[in-house]
Amino acid sequence: MKDAIAEIRSRAVADIAGAGDAQELNTIRVRFLGKKGELTSLLRGMGKLPAEERPKVGKMVNEVRDALENALEDRESELQSQKQEEQLKQEALDISLPGRPYQRGRVHPVMQALEDIKMIFVSMGYQIVEGPEVELDYYNFEALNVPPDHPARDMQDTFYLSDSLLLRSQTSPVQVRTMEQQDPPVRIIAPGKVYRSDADVTHSPMFHQVEGLLVDKGITLAHLKGTLQVFAERMFGPETKTRFRPSYFPFTEPSAEVDVSCTMCHGSGCRVCSNTGWLELLGSGMVDARVLAKVGYAPETYSGFAFGMGIERAAMLKYGINDIRLFYDNDIRFLEQF
Ligand code: DAH
Repeated sequence: MKDAIAEIRSRAVADIAGAGDAQELNTIRVRFLGKKGELTSLLRGMGKLPAEERPKVGKMVNEVRDALENALEDRESELQSQKQEEQLKQEALDISLPGRPYQRGRVHPVMQALEDIKMIFVSMGYQIVEGPEVELDYYNFEALNVPPDHPARDMQDTFYLSDSLLLRSQTSPVQVRTMEQQDPPVRIIAPGKVYRSDADVTHSPMFHQVEGLLVDKGITLAHLKGTLQVFAERMFGPETKTRFRPSYFPFTEPSAEVDVSCTMCHGSGCRVCSNTGWLELLGSGMVDARVLAKVGYAPETYSGFAFGMGIERAAMLKYGINDIRLFYDNDIRFLEQF
């Protein structure tokens, strides 16, 4: 009997050690320790033993039962931790894998140029104001000395919403709106989008301008020249020169177009400046007395200068870009260079 018990024990221990999962363990438990299991059956046969043997054998059976219960439990937790380890291995994150790089955004060159322009004029005490893009004909043309049949309208053909409402073709109307609302002195710049029915390598149906206006007592052309010279140096570099060419705008008298020395060749002549050494930057002049009078400023007391600059144009000069359309294509290879 003792041998039989020992034999069951060693067989059960071997089976338990070889079990691969919880289900197998359960089958083994039933086989050896269940109601009809081998060990239980053995106990039933104890009646045949001599009385003094029974307690010893009983004790032995109990010991084997305990040992098997323990072995089952141990094996079960062993299997469980094996399973968990495998699962962890499978679900593990490989933190050595390099991450996906993010494309970093950057400021658009036109907005960068505008920021530069703003900083320069703000540092000279100018305020930044804005006006509507959908504008009245009155502010875009009439108040600026451009009556309905004036030939200057041709150059600024724009998009009309009605007879009196249009997409502004310039930022100059903000001059008038500002002067209507405040007494002099005035010192503003007015950046924003403008529209024209125009499209080629240097013209876009939508582009950006910055208007400048300064009105006070005793303002002369010398103030305009000094201001734009300082601006040009800060914007394009300290070696930059300016040149004033007589011109015509209906809302200034006298009027001048302002060139800066070529940002590529610094004046010696190259392809960018068509060998002239100069690049056209903006329109400007002394505010026409009629424009002042229309907003109720006394032209005998006050005078002022104004200028209007294309921001794309300024950015093209600064960065040596020869096609305005590159700004709007949003090709990352282009935008990444600034
Ligand atoms: N508005 C003009 C244009 O778009 C530019 C301009 C010229 C603005 C002279 C001014 C100025 O304020 O005084 O062509």
